[in-house]
Amino acid sequence: MKTPKRLEPLVQEGLIDEVKRQLMSGKEATVYVVRCGAEIRCAKVYKEANQRSFHQAVAYQEGRRVKNSRQARAMEKGSRYGRKMAEEVWQNAEVDALHRLAAAGVRVPTPYQCFEGVLVMELVTDADGNAAPRLSSVPLTPELALAYHAALLHQVVLMLCAGVIHGDLSEYNILVDAQGPVIIDLPQAIDAASSSVASSMLERDVTNLATFFGTIVPALLESQYGKEIWGLYEAGLLTPESPLTGKVAAPTGAVDVDAVIREIALAREEAEEIERHKADMAS
Ligand SMILES: Nc1ncnc2c1ncn2[C@@H]1O[C@H](COP(=O)(O)OP(=O)(O)O)[C@@H](O)[C@H]1O
Ligand SMILES: [Mg+2]
Repeated sequence: MKTPKRLEPLVQEGLIDEVKRQLMSGKEATVYVVRCGAEIRCAKVYKEANQRSFHQAVAYQEGRRVKNSRQARAMEKGSRYGRKMAEEVWQNAEVDALHRLAAAGVRVPTPYQCFEGVLVMELVTDADGNAAPRLSSVPLTPELALAYHAALLHQVVLMLCAGVIHGDLSEYNILVDAQGPVIIDLPQAIDAASSSVASSMLERDVTNLATFFGTIVPALLESQYGKEIWGLYEAGLLTPESPLTGKVAAPTGAVDVDAVIREIALAREEAEEIERHKADMAS
């Protein structure tokens, strides 16, 4: 096909030799099948910030590591420099997350380059070499649903052990190749250790999986894997081998008054922190 404008710089730089066809146009990006030398890859072209949707939310900005405080302040103030900075942080976030996750053994497409707002990565394919389908359109038996659910929980644990939470995990951001599920679409991935919304994001990701597979295996709707995984992570006990039950124990035995007081103090500190942040933003 004729090279789309946004891919021209990559062709000029020799990162792409030929654009084969458009694969998908989603809410955040358009994805093309491209040829790089003898290899078929895909190129994800990010939409401009003003064409994107909910990912602008503060929740997502917050967990993002920014190189220096001048950049952080500029981003908060929304100046032109700040918006450009935020745009670059956004575009690099996905390639950073992919590198981190691939190194941690998570099943993600291999990233190659991110250049001029375009991410070149491995094209995930099915057994016939065609672009792999999304989980949402794969026919599932109860056995397969259980196997994929377990495989995906394992991926979520591997990600969290690497300090990353997807933040938008669903049957639309999971592809299925001959070996099983592959996780994609990570520009909004958050840093588990530095975000105050980490636990709720993790729980939402895990609940999305249970809700999807729960249409085939209703017992999954009762599971509490999100809470269980987060509990282990917070306690410093989560490893890729941690056995999971999907249940969290109801509190039993005597109440630990000291622990309750510590929790209250922590909650107060958190509330004060939020107030300070609001005041900073307002000034
Ligand atoms: N590495 C890949 N291999 C195969 N297909 C992909 C790949 N990355 C994206 N796609 C396809 O493009 C679609 C959109 O990509 P995605 O990263 O989810 O962006 P968006 O933010 O637009 O949802 C996906 O649902 C999938 O069908
Ligand atoms: Mg997507």
